[in-house]
Amino acid sequence: NIHLIEKPPHEHDALIATLPHEPVYERPFSIGHPLRLYKGVWIAEKMLRGTLVMQQCFKSCPTDIFLASFPKSGTTWLKAMAFSTLTRTKCSLDKHPLLTHNPHQCVPYMELQFATGRRQIIDVIPSPRLMSTHLPYFLLPDSIKESSCRIVYIWRDPKDVLISAWHFAQKILGGPDKMATFDQFYEFFCQGLYSFGPIWNHILEYWEESKRRPEKILFLKYENILQEPVKYAKQLAHFIGCPFSESEENQHVVEQIVELCSIKKMKDFDVNKDGDLVTSSTNVHISKAYFFRKGEVGDWKSHMTQEMAERLDTLIKEKFEGSGLQI
Ligand code: A3P
Repeated sequence: NIHLIEKPPHEHDALIATLPHEPVYERPFSIGHPLRLYKGVWIAEKMLRGTLVMQQCFKSCPTDIFLASFPKSGTTWLKAMAFSTLTRTKCSLDKHPLLTHNPHQCVPYMELQFATGRRQIIDVIPSPRLMSTHLPYFLLPDSIKESSCRIVYIWRDPKDVLISAWHFAQKILGGPDKMATFDQFYEFFCQGLYSFGPIWNHILEYWEESKRRPEKILFLKYENILQEPVKYAKQLAHFIGCPFSESEENQHVVEQIVELCSIKKMKDFDVNKDGDLVTSSTNVHISKAYFFRKGEVGDWKSHMTQEMAERLDTLIKEKFEGSGLQI
C-alpha cells in the first residue's frame, strides 16, 4: 500500500561511507549496489542502510518466524513451503495465494523493507508473522536473538550457490559480456566477496547456534529437502508450530504442499513467468522469473573445472573443521 511507504533511511550514510568498498573492476560482479565490508561481512550499501535501522528499532514477538539464508541457497522454496504450510487452513490449496503471488511477495524480506522505507508492512503481517532475512546471525537485531521467536535456516553446497549466484547476476546485469568473467566471479566468491559473504561464516554461525538452541533454530539443507521433501515438510510444520494432523496426513495434504511448492509447478505459474519484484528507490530490476532456474543438485559440474571444485571444497572443509558440519 502506497500510504505505508516512508522515505528510505539515510541516517547511517556517513558511517557507511567510511567502510571498505568492493574492488572496482572494469565489469561489475555484484548486482547493482556496491558492497561494503561491515564487521567482516560484505553487504550491499542499500541493505546495510536497512540493517542498521532494523537493528535499532525492530522488536520481535515470541510468535515470529524468520526464514534465514545465504542468497541463492533455496530461500524462495523455503518461503513457499513455510507460507503454504502456515496458511493451509485459511487458504485452500487450489486457490492459494502462491498461485497468484511470487513467494517473495508473500514473505517480506526484512532488510529490504527497512531499506526502502516500508517497515510498517512488517507491523501489519498477521500473527504469527513470517519474515525473511539474509543477515548473518550476529547481525540480527538483539530482539530476534533474545526473544523466543523461531528461525528456520536453509543452506546449500556452496559450489551450487556460486553457480546459482553467477546465473542470477548475469540475468540482472544483462548477460555474461556485461559482467566479470566466471573465473573472476569464482575468485571473488572464494574471497567471501558476495552479498552477505563470506558464505562459510554465514552457514557456520547458524549451525553453531542451532546446536546450542535447537528449539530456536531449525537447520535445513537444500539437498536433503530435495531428496525427502515430505519428511522435511513435516519437520518444518512441526517446528513452526503447525504440525500436520493425522487426518491431514491421511488426506495427503503434505504431499499437496510439496507439489504446490515444487520448482516445476512454481515456474509454470503465470505470476512467476514475468514481471519485476517491485523495490522502490532502486534501479535494479529483478524479474520474478529469475528466482526459478534448475533447482538441481550438482549443477556446478557443468560450469566448474575439477580443480576449481576441489579448491572451493577444501576451503569450506577447512572452515568447517571441528564443527561437525559437512558439505
Ligand atoms: P539454481 O540456480 O541452482 O537453479 P534463492 O531462492 O535463495 O534465491 O535460491 C535460488 C535457487 O533455488 C535457484 O537454484 C532456484 O532454481 C532454486 N529454487 C527456486 N525455487 C525452487 C523450488 N521451488 N524448489 C527447488 N529449488 C528452487
